[in-house]
Amino acid sequence: MEEIERKLFSKRKQNHIDLASSSQFENKPRINLMDYFDYEPLMTNNVVEAGDLSQTFLNKTISYPFLISSMTASGEDSTEINKVLAQTAKHYNLPFALGSCRKFLFNNEADESMLVRDELGDGPLLANLGIAQVEELVESKELSRINKMMQVLNADALYIHINPMQEIHQEEGDRYWSSPIELISKLVEEVDYPVLVKEVGQGMGPRSLETLLNLNIYGIDSASLGGTNFTYLEKLRGKNKRFNGFIEKRDWNGASSIGHSIPEMINFLKNINNSDKVIILSGGVRSPEDAFLYKQLLGEENSLIGMAYPFLQAAQNGLPAVQEFFESFLYEYLIFNKFLHLKDKYNK
Ligand SMILES: Cc1cc2nc3c(=O)[nH]c(=O)nc-3n(C[C@H](O)[C@H](O)[C@H](O)COP(=O)(O)O)c2cc1C
Repeated sequence: MEEIERKLFSKRKQNHIDLASSSQFENKPRINLMDYFDYEPLMTNNVVEAGDLSQTFLNKTISYPFLISSMTASGEDSTEINKVLAQTAKHYNLPFALGSCRKFLFNNEADESMLVRDELGDGPLLANLGIAQVEELVESKELSRINKMMQVLNADALYIHINPMQEIHQEEGDRYWSSPIELISKLVEEVDYPVLVKEVGQGMGPRSLETLLNLNIYGIDSASLGGTNFTYLEKLRGKNKRFNGFIEKRDWNGASSIGHSIPEMINFLKNINNSDKVIILSGGVRSPEDAFLYKQLLGEENSLIGMAYPFLQAAQNGLPAVQEFFESFLYEYLIFNKFLHLKDKYNK
């Protein structure tokens, strides 16, 4: 990657942080948990404690089923933001995913914001690359460059993002010429670290999901429609002249509305036999109600709930703000967990 390209990439990542708040597509109807759960006050005491919500992820024990989703690893504010997020992940023993680490790949040098292992401690760390970088390395037979990155970052797994809509709407957006399924198949044949695959906020349909889950990957992240929307964000950035004549409104059905929400994707997943893969549900999780409902509806013990923007928003105000946000999120989640039982009709 040329110096100028690295600078442009950092600038773009900073734009993403700055515009994330204007790109929220929280257009789902309000959830009424009582449509899905029965309240059972007589079956337990009323002492709300952290209790045991721990589970295993990437061969490590995490304390809660939440993941801090990929956001940044480059851009002016990213060092401070990642430091706060990594400290949060350490404090609550949550897994932490870096944003795109592509800057590392072609000059073997980590941006300061990627070096979070010390702040994070031993918890699960995911490095992140786009599918276009995977294609470049497959074509040049240089997949081993990723090994170096994994070692330097001391990452436990690689997250690959597949975001065709965002790239199309970005003037400088990447293009890939093979299908992501072909590229991921080639990648997993050659590497010995766990690979997870995600969208970035528009989700994916049943054919993509089923084909993906048949590959030798560790898991997927739905990164569904209904939260941060990168098609819209790229339109807001306004760099791609092709979209100058079309100012999309959030409630119009333009390209920003293409995709699948978490509830839709849960239905797709229920029809696919994927028992050995870890499923992360994310994209628009904004409340403990969302998190609790989605985790219970999917009904897979090893599944996780991912959040990006809510953590970013809090992290911009420092560690105490993230702790305040997450403490209350968690407390309410624990209350739901203690007293609510999924209605029989959803329990299959
Ligand atoms: C500022 C920002 C930057 C992001 N950068 C990346 C990235 O580099 N790689 C990636 O895989 N996803 C990236 N994402 C997408 C998130 O990981 C997530 O899939 C998406 O935002 C949906 O989750 P949310 O609705 O909780 O924000 C980014 C999200 C935000 C808000």
